[in-house]
Amino acid sequence: MIIGIDLGGSTTDAVLWGTNPHVVTVEANDPIAAAAGALGKLTEEIGVGLGSIEAVAATGGGSRRLGERILGIPVHKVPEIVAIGIGGATLAERERALVVSLGTGTALVSVERGDVQHVGGTGVGGGTLLGLARHLVQISRLDTLERLAAAGDLAHVDLTVGDIAGGPVGRLPAHATASNFGKLGADARPEDKARGLVNMIAEVIVSLSVLAARACSQQDIVLTGKLLRVRPFMERVRATTGLFDVQFLVPPYAEYATAIGAARHLATSAGEAR
Ligand SMILES: Nc1ncnc2c1ncn2[C@@H]1O[C@H](COP(=O)(O)OP(=O)(O)OP(=O)(O)O)[C@@H](O)[C@H]1O
Ligand SMILES: [Mg+2]
Repeated sequence: MIIGIDLGGSTTDAVLWGTNPHVVTVEANDPIAAAAGALGKLTEEIGVGLGSIEAVAATGGGSRRLGERILGIPVHKVPEIVAIGIGGATLAERERALVVSLGTGTALVSVERGDVQHVGGTGVGGGTLLGLARHLVQISRLDTLERLAAAGDLAHVDLTVGDIAGGPVGRLPAHATASNFGKLGADARPEDKARGLVNMIAEVIVSLSVLAARACSQQDIVLTGKLLRVRPFMERVRATTGLFDVQFLVPPYAEYATAIGAARHLATSAGEAR
């Protein structure tokens, strides 16, 4: 039995991958406490002893702080880019795809039959959403932000192509955004600012993903990570993606794709070594 653990900038996930997948998430600042906590919670929930676990496949920014063993179990480190790529492609059942990790930050990874390349990324991500929400509307809870954003009106915040040109321009419809926050006036309510913020992050990530997909000749873009849980964010992503000639996929378990990819990578390489 191999457990995948992803120690991310915001959360730590532990997964048992297979016919009956099981996932747990914990939040802890210390990576060792987070990994041990996630491992303990997972084994408790599935009702197995630590002795049945052969190995831990650890990935994510915090994994470098782990030693060679955790709770006595051998730790194998999997590069995060490999874990993201393998995880997204496995879940979407694709041999080739652009996998986008929507976490604290955003990473873009191209997968081509087992070959995994780090294409790039942006610091605009889930951490930006939380940080700017605190600044713009003094809110630090995601559920409150979601409710606020749902009641917002982008017409008070964003400048559209139609606002500037009076109608569509080339392939851009009149409702496409010309300038995020470009129309923010004194009359904008907290609801409008919250919606504008979610909208801006969704649009930055969608545009970057589309350009990256074109640059590496990918047709399928697999979205992963916990920013997917933020409902108005996903609604905006769904509304925007229709503008482009690529396909966006959100497979089941996409929030945990990186931990799943780490486990899959170790299981495959262990299988090959046997
Ligand atoms: N329950 C939740 N807990 C934490 N973050 C959440 C939650 N639901 C949604 N999010 C959003 O998801 C983001 C974190 O995503 P995720 O946990 O996938 O990132 P991470 O793997 O910890 O970070 P990274 O991959 O950048 O190191 C947060 O910044 C937040 O905007
Ligand atoms: Mg992550």
